[in-house]
Amino acid sequence: MSRHINSIFKVCLFLLISLLVGCSKEPPEAVESSLVETLGLRDYASAKGKFIGNLMRDGMFENEQVNGGSTDKILRTEYNAIVLGNKMKMSNLLRNRPQDPFNIKITDINTGNIDKFVAYADKYQMRKRGHVMIWYKQIPSWLEAEAPNWTAQQVYDFSKSYITTLSSYSAGKIDEWDVINEAIINNDFRRNTWYDIVSSQANDEGEVGFQSYFSHLFKWARQSDTAAELFYNDYNIEPFGTSKNNFMRNLVKELKSTHAAPIDGVGLQGHFKIDQVTEQFVAKLGQTIDDLGVAGFTVNITELDIRICAGDNGNIQTQKDAYKRIVSTAFNRENCNTVLIWGSSDNDSWINTHYEGCGQATPHDENYRYKPAYFGIKEALMEL
Ligand code: XIL
Repeated sequence: MSRHINSIFKVCLFLLISLLVGCSKEPPEAVESSLVETLGLRDYASAKGKFIGNLMRDGMFENEQVNGGSTDKILRTEYNAIVLGNKMKMSNLLRNRPQDPFNIKITDINTGNIDKFVAYADKYQMRKRGHVMIWYKQIPSWLEAEAPNWTAQQVYDFSKSYITTLSSYSAGKIDEWDVINEAIINNDFRRNTWYDIVSSQANDEGEVGFQSYFSHLFKWARQSDTAAELFYNDYNIEPFGTSKNNFMRNLVKELKSTHAAPIDGVGLQGHFKIDQVTEQFVAKLGQTIDDLGVAGFTVNITELDIRICAGDNGNIQTQKDAYKRIVSTAFNRENCNTVLIWGSSDNDSWINTHYEGCGQATPHDENYRYKPAYFGIKEALMEL
């Protein structure tokens, strides 16, 4: 709350100074640039009750001042929400095999990663997003080797034990969690996951199918931490009416109504390619937020980046409009309160190493300078 008041104060101060500058002889650019230093995106966002966030890259764990301190500076001045890029994934939290994988103890979990993240976020009053509890990727190698031989009940036991222990520890520390990530492919459930067994084999209660399993994941998370908001998170689910989007909307609604799963929200990852972000595309993203809103879901954008690839028509100028349009469309809806970007600068982004011929996906360039995209986001926030 005090942060909120502080932000309102800063924005009022900004408006006042703008007014005074209008009456003075001083060239406006000079004042504008000194204000850019003190007012971050977070100030504009929190004045409107919204959260604009970014990820904390792995390198900050070893050295908070990685990149000569530029990454830290961008995070703490621009953002009021934060997520870990990798360090809270199962491969990092449960790296070593617990003595009993069906009865996980808190000492089996690498809680140091959570503590480090929470300490940093709390230092700057940031909203903390947990990513991720159950995902078929970035899992420990011992699990990869053992899980295919498990019974459905063992998959349930392991998942319950992991989620319960983790949620109990993170209660009061993490504000929202991705309970499950990327469980859909095209118009069906993703197969060949380490937990695929639950779809063909019943557990001891006679439950069979992904729906029962997924609904239990949310229930276990809620039982151990009644306050954290719980999310289903995925990519390519943003525009309304595609087969993956239809499947996703049906799934979360069914889990909530038929299975009484305590799902609070859907995370639209938002890994976009510049030429994809047309006006119509963004309008359909808005339609998804609205449709899920009617069903009572929060819909946040959780991993936004807009890559520019060799041969694309778009450039960093059109990227400004793309960022602006997305932030504006998302935040103009009451059931969207957070937009997180996936990379604090083009130098801290996963795109360069994961998408050949692509890059420039974030609002700060490789030298940590503002890009047009940054000002697109700022304009969207100011116009809210
Ligand atoms: C990415 C990280 O940014 C990379 O550093 C890592 O090598 C692979 O994973 N969807 C997700 C994120 O949910 O966890 C992924 O993060 C990007 C796609």
